[in-house]
Amino acid sequence: MASLNPLSTLCLSYLLLLTLFLSLAEPAITSSKSTKIGQGYRLISIQDDPNGAITGLLQVKEKNDIYGSDIPLLRFYVKHETESRLRVHITDAKSKRWEVPYDLLPREQPSPLKQNIKRLKKNSLSVSEHSSSELVFSYTSDPFSFAVKRKSNGDTLFDSNSNESDPFGPLVFKDQYLEISTKLPKDASLYGLGENSQPHGIKLYPNDPYTLYTTDVAAINLNTDLYGSHPVYMDLRNHEGGKPNAHGVLLLNSNGMDVFYKGTSLTYKIIGGVLDFYFFAGPTPLSVVDQYTSFIGRPAPMPYWAFGFHQCRWGYHNLSVVEDVVENYNKAKIPLDVIWNDDDHMDGHKDFTLNPVNYPRPKLLNFLERIHNIGMKYIVIIDPGIAVNSSYGVYQRGMANDVFIKHEGEPFLAQVWPGAVYFPDFLNPKTVSWWGDEIRRFHELVPVDGLWIDMNEASNFCSGKCTIPTGKVCPSGTGPGWVCCLDCKNITSTRWDDPPYKINASGLQAPIGFKTIATSAVHYNGILEYDAHSIYGFSQTIATHKALQGLQGKRPFILTRSTYVGSGKYAAHWTGDNQGTWENLRYSISTMLNFGIFGVPMVGSDICGFYPQPTEELCNRWIEVGAFYPFSRDHANYYSPRQELYQWETVAESARNALGMRYKLLPYLYTLNYEAHISGAPIARPLFFSFPTYIECYSLSTQFLLGSSLMISPVLEQGKTEVDALFPPGTWYSLFDLTQVIVSKDGTNVTLNAPLHVVNVHLYQNSILPMQQGGMISKDARMTPFSLIVTFPAGANEGEAKGNLFLDDDELPEMKLGNGYSTYIDFHASVKEGTVKVWSQVQEGKFALDKGWVIDTINVLGLNGNGAIGTIEINGKPTNVKIDTTKQNYIHGRGDGEKN
Ligand code: NOJ
Repeated sequence: MASLNPLSTLCLSYLLLLTLFLSLAEPAITSSKSTKIGQGYRLISIQDDPNGAITGLLQVKEKNDIYGSDIPLLRFYVKHETESRLRVHITDAKSKRWEVPYDLLPREQPSPLKQNIKRLKKNSLSVSEHSSSELVFSYTSDPFSFAVKRKSNGDTLFDSNSNESDPFGPLVFKDQYLEISTKLPKDASLYGLGENSQPHGIKLYPNDPYTLYTTDVAAINLNTDLYGSHPVYMDLRNHEGGKPNAHGVLLLNSNGMDVFYKGTSLTYKIIGGVLDFYFFAGPTPLSVVDQYTSFIGRPAPMPYWAFGFHQCRWGYHNLSVVEDVVENYNKAKIPLDVIWNDDDHMDGHKDFTLNPVNYPRPKLLNFLERIHNIGMKYIVIIDPGIAVNSSYGVYQRGMANDVFIKHEGEPFLAQVWPGAVYFPDFLNPKTVSWWGDEIRRFHELVPVDGLWIDMNEASNFCSGKCTIPTGKVCPSGTGPGWVCCLDCKNITSTRWDDPPYKINASGLQAPIGFKTIATSAVHYNGILEYDAHSIYGFSQTIATHKALQGLQGKRPFILTRSTYVGSGKYAAHWTGDNQGTWENLRYSISTMLNFGIFGVPMVGSDICGFYPQPTEELCNRWIEVGAFYPFSRDHANYYSPRQELYQWETVAESARNALGMRYKLLPYLYTLNYEAHISGAPIARPLFFSFPTYIECYSLSTQFLLGSSLMISPVLEQGKTEVDALFPPGTWYSLFDLTQVIVSKDGTNVTLNAPLHVVNVHLYQNSILPMQQGGMISKDARMTPFSLIVTFPAGANEGEAKGNLFLDDDELPEMKLGNGYSTYIDFHASVKEGTVKVWSQVQEGKFALDKGWVIDTINVLGLNGNGAIGTIEINGKPTNVKIDTTKQNYIHGRGDGEKN
């Protein structure tokens, strides 16, 4: 739910009653063998396509009517689209079915089925292999099943063949129910399938339900469907004695689905669309996300300031409060880059308006000029629901352009904060233009630096088909405003509103139209909400991105709550309405790491929790984690007491410490942003990304990496002043105190000191970390001299280290080399016989030179007390450098625990 007040308790009990009712009304159908839904299909013909694909026809073996009748004839299409990507597409051979629109997620169209295709011999087994591909496709024809194997080691990655001993049945394909399963080996570790709160940590947990359907349910302790839908998982295997291999599996389908993971099998139960599988060969976790994001779209480049700290809250009642917040951050000497408004600045909660009393435009413009002058930014919220109000320009123009989702020929009526609303249909090109125009108009009114799109699952306070009660105006705003006041009747008469198979919606088997748009509502070109529901937020994100990109030619910043496959190409994400509890602090790590795998690396949770009020201790610990989220923002609910970081002196101190370090790390974070943009590499990563052979870290969800070598080991439990942290084999240096070294031989658990203001951050051996000197605002921090920390294994006589740095003019829409506004540097270092060499390879160095950026200090860690004299090579040319006490280009050696 979007907020917590006494009414939410009511709401919860309503949901519980609803569950009870539903469980009485319909016996749950489980995935056990005894309730097999179908007998499967047989392959009756097959052909090779000139474009390298194979296509075939599948005929149903035996029809039944459970969840509707089986589609008699299916067409399957298989293609090695690249060396590392295999596609398997199965759909109705005779009628077109709903698929994620090809213009939203560009990809190849399967070639049409030809006549005269050769008939198959019964029970034949065939294999399709693209000579250079690591993925081998094979099938059995009766009953039809398919498998995907890894060529290099013969490992079966996916196998839909069901034997008597398997807890799943064969392929089922009905209009509103699709089922397919795969076997999995016992040692497969799976990650992904979200969005959910992952109470058991990053690794998928057997028998936990994974329901994918975009829903406005607060991130509560249950593993329910949340705001986004990402039907993709990464499977990491480390067969005994072998080398670890990872691969990815995407099922590109936007319909609601339950995914049952049982440890040795995984079953998809989907209520529509097609089976469109993509297999990504890996074999490393990084190569899986590289292959995945090269397909779904590379993560959006974020502006530099987006890596600064953000302050937001719902309930900044007037501009003076906002001004005070900025002032108080400054007084408390806590860095702050971005100040946000929730819907408080709006007039009657209507998008693109200003409250003339509390946020008068001249005063707001004056404030914006002042903060813009010092490099700060301002972001406001927009919800998709447009107030139904004939004197409201946005509504008038929307009606004139016919941009809203329809139900029985009329715009679909819903209720959100402004009262009665209509929802724009972002699948309609006319809506995209109208939306762009509204954003342009608003930007002329208020020069915002980014937009926050919320409630876009879409969230509705009502369910069903509603009308405005005669003589009544639905209140706008919070409190009573979020209880449905429209006259609504639940729709159960259509098969879209009441599909035969009930996904576990809202974690309660709620009707799929519960508190959202009725699924019988209609979009552009007759597209049903039933099919397009989970891409609503995604389509709004694309429209918003298009609009912002057109403004002033700047790099857009968008924060969206609802996401789908491909959203990362356009936006950042926060994990929604979390709670101010220790559990939720822990969940924030797993969800953040999952979003890295989903190709949405700019992610974070509401620091200190959205509601209820956090304790002071929790807020201390939360900022110590949140300072290292890629997207770092404090946000709170309307009903929560104020929780800006300066509200408690202890929190302010932890913030100065942790955010102080973040601001020194900004060049590193920004370089990770570039890496994410060109290769999909997550900014925040599970440890197994860097240590895939170290099985002990496969389920580690309490620590994480930034990039490949910076490890955060925070305190996540109340009352603790120590933290038990896992250190994969190698040498680790404390970033806050470079003299603290941990040498982990084969992997060690270490109890680290962590009093209230301390967060442990360690840098791994063989790294070169670029840093600057920090500051109160990223614009200033960015102009301070650089330093490099070079790490070798402790006491190394020989070793190498690497790192890199990307610099550019971050306001340009594109983030790339070669435009004259960027520089890329590869740093290398080696130590041999007491001599340290540090050198760099610079691409497009002019930009950095013109900016006057210099490297002031190089700290070299891990030398046995020697290494005080070394050689620096710049661009391949060796230069002898002496120790320089003025800190210009000096090499600084430190041995284990030895203070300089
Ligand atoms: C729900 C969002 O999740 C929350 O962050 C926001 O404060 C409220 N909507 C009000 O806009």
